Amino acid sequence: MKVVLAYSGGLDTTVCIFLLREKYGFDEVITATVDIGLPEAELKRAEERGKKYADKHYTIPARKEFVEAIYRLVKANGDYEGYVLGTAIARPIIAEKVAEVAKKEKADAVAHGCTGKGNDQLRFENVFRQYNFKVIAPVRELNLTREWEIEYAKEHGIEVPATKEKPFSVDENLWSRSIEGGKLEDPSFVPPEEIYEWTKSPEKAPEKPEIVKIDFEKGIPVAVNDQRLDGFELVKLLNELGGRHGIGRTDMIEDRVLGLKARENYEHPAATILITAHRDLEKLVLSRRELKFKKIVEEEWAELVYYGLTNEPLFEALNAFIDKTQERVSGWVKLKLYKGSVMPIARYSEFALYSEELVSFDTKAIDQRLAEGFAVFHGLQGRIFQRLRREKL
Ligand code: ARG
Repeated sequence: MKVVLAYSGGLDTTVCIFLLREKYGFDEVITATVDIGLPEAELKRAEERGKKYADKHYTIPARKEFVEAIYRLVKANGDYEGYVLGTAIARPIIAEKVAEVAKKEKADAVAHGCTGKGNDQLRFENVFRQYNFKVIAPVRELNLTREWEIEYAKEHGIEVPATKEKPFSVDENLWSRSIEGGKLEDPSFVPPEEIYEWTKSPEKAPEKPEIVKIDFEKGIPVAVNDQRLDGFELVKLLNELGGRHGIGRTDMIEDRVLGLKARENYEHPAATILITAHRDLEKLVLSRRELKFKKIVEEEWAELVYYGLTNEPLFEALNAFIDKTQERVSGWVKLKLYKGSVMPIARYSEFALYSEELVSFDTKAIDQRLAEGFAVFHGLQGRIFQRLRREKL
């Protein structure tokens, strides 16, 4: 009996390798780590441990797919309740790649290390079940706690990064880093600086602001400070730049799919910079009504992604709408990065609906006297109502 395990190299999934043999009786456990832009060291660590503890290990590249997911997210200004979707966009890609390995290996089952309390179980399994795989979720099925896992790892001589002092569950990809668990589970607890790895604290950020220019083509970021970069390099560079200035920390209460409220901590400097810039450019280019309607579309889009329901036909339809709006979202935005804040300070697009000629205090392209007729009708119903109230109510 053979099983393919979605493997991160962390506590849960490493313990799962052993449990799949010991409690489920698999005689071949294959680990598969999917590279969605993990830091080199992290990827290497997962590979080393997979090779050491499992019977066979795969490291599968998926940076290209992940960058495409990031582009789609930027176009949709994707956030759920204020959470810049990071883990959520990675999961379906990871699941697809793991399923490919399982097909190739003719495995009897696929496994993941998610708990029964979070969202990731749903995101993974929606893909796995599409291919009719038997799904094994040891942490959920055996009702395990992180404390138990840390103890189990110790007893079995398994090295894991989590300790009882630092029991954080970290999920990281090119786009964001999430930190959960341990003392952070108490929403009234103030997180220590040590949980952050990508961002400086704003008070320690440079005293001098930095200006960064981002170019977009059809809603997609293509250059930083006039240097054209591929998506992977561009996001990496903005993570470094933004991180230095303490940009992109989120500490929030989030509603999980199951209805549980969770306290979540995130770091995502590039995401904050890019979405701020993209929103700003859209305001220059899209019409009032496009902007208003797109907000509704974005909320629905983000919820589908958060829920792991990107196989929904609605998701395709929403993306078609978004892509249509993005045809004109080309141009650039300059932003000021300063001690945790990112502020748009200039923008340009050849498709701007803005007209300096029309709006300026100093030109006569529109005869302002014409507005008198508009003002006569504007607010008419309210004025009638106020008169009625005075006289009859
Ligand atoms: N709350 C986020 C989500 O549901 C992130 C979860 C990340 N998982 C973790 N083990 N840190 O997408």
